Amino acid sequence: MAIHRHDNHQSANAFMEWIDRRLPVTKVWNEHLAEYMAAKNLNFWYFFGSLAMLMLVIQILTGIFLTMHYKPDAELAFASVEYIMRDVPFGWLVRYMHSTGASAFFVIVYLHMFRGLIYGSHREPRELVWLIGCVIFVALMAEAFMGYLLPWGNMSYWGAQVIISLFDVIPYFGPILTEWIRGDFVISDATLNRFFAFHVILLPLILVFLVFLHLVALHQVGSNNPDGIDIYEHVDEDGKPLDGVAFHPYYVVKDLVGVCGFLIIYLGIVFFAPDFGGIFLEKDNFAPANPLQTPPDIVPLWYFTPYYSILRANTFNFFWIDAKVWGVVFMGLAIAVFFLLPWLDRSPVKSIRYRSAPFKLALVLFLIAFFVLGYLGMNSPTPARTLLAQVCSIIYFAFFILMPWFTSIGKTKPVPDRVTSDAH
Ligand code: HEM
Repeated sequence: MAIHRHDNHQSANAFMEWIDRRLPVTKVWNEHLAEYMAAKNLNFWYFFGSLAMLMLVIQILTGIFLTMHYKPDAELAFASVEYIMRDVPFGWLVRYMHSTGASAFFVIVYLHMFRGLIYGSHREPRELVWLIGCVIFVALMAEAFMGYLLPWGNMSYWGAQVIISLFDVIPYFGPILTEWIRGDFVISDATLNRFFAFHVILLPLILVFLVFLHLVALHQVGSNNPDGIDIYEHVDEDGKPLDGVAFHPYYVVKDLVGVCGFLIIYLGIVFFAPDFGGIFLEKDNFAPANPLQTPPDIVPLWYFTPYYSILRANTFNFFWIDAKVWGVVFMGLAIAVFFLLPWLDRSPVKSIRYRSAPFKLALVLFLIAFFVLGYLGMNSPTPARTLLAQVCSIIYFAFFILMPWFTSIGKTKPVPDRVTSDAH
């Protein structure tokens, strides 16, 4: 028996050697998993990168199954989604996993970005990891926006109408551009068809490629940690960091705990509250697209509402330029400003654990403004709400504009030499 097992082992080894001479499987496995060293103190905030990858896989897989029954045709689209929900075996599950998945993906990505912000992961030497992340964020927004048109509900139709017409404000080229995007003078079958092509092929390909680049860039410089210190400053005689552990098996197993926790919440929503009170699936989208009936409040899904609020908050015509133009400009800037973060942050320390009080205060104000903007964007504007959105938009931009200043004042705490890790 023992000899038998030995033989099997040898032939498995010979097989891997054969493969490795032709394809660097073992080399890649070792470099990126078995010998990739990460600080031993990574906490739950580090779950969100692997969870974002899980979400990408879930969206692609459920998307493939939806495509088998969905019809990208203005006459048939709405009914084909109803057919998936009622008649296709487990169609309801696949569709709810995908629709809830979109919201879950954004929750995860927002938390993942916030982790970067609090531990200074955007700082040198991880600027490119952050920048590629920002491009992923923009691509993900485009992916979600186009996907939302596909069920051809009334909110799909009017939401797309509002967002595409924003391009109208571009001087001279605006009207030509909007017509080119829609493929028609209004949102129509041509628009639905091209959004389908982008949503199911182009953007998923771009996203997968960007995530690959994101990880290559990360592994080039190594992961940060909650102390924001370089674990390669203390290495043993083999050059291995004293405070590092191999990603596999330690973080593979730890990330699996995160996956289980996440699946409990995600599937709980899929099974028990898939529309999440109209937040994950809007009520107006249960009625088919109707060009003659504008919904009383055209509001995007929650993950766009902070930016939508910034768009609507602009009610002034500065410098003879229309308020609507400024709204679009500020909405674009609100997203673009994330790209500058690595250079706006001048703090001598990376992690929130050692940052100065002014940074912490600014961060809290920013978070409050972000949530309030998100809430306001989900509701119809009143004069008081518009004023509040204006104040919050100012706080939002002030966070970035004043960052070089408030990150260089105040007293930071001394950063330890080695990572700190409590038993848990
Ligand atoms: C599809 C979306 C994304 C996926 C699948 C993804 C995946 C990952 C993974 C697997 C990691 C390593 C594990 C971890 O540190 O959590 C990581 C790290 C990182 N990601 Fe992302 N990411 C995504 C979006 C973003 C976005 C939108 C940003 C920022 C704008 C971002 C910024 C970062 C940074 C700065 C790190 C390094 C963190 C550190 O070492 O402390 N990522 N990402």
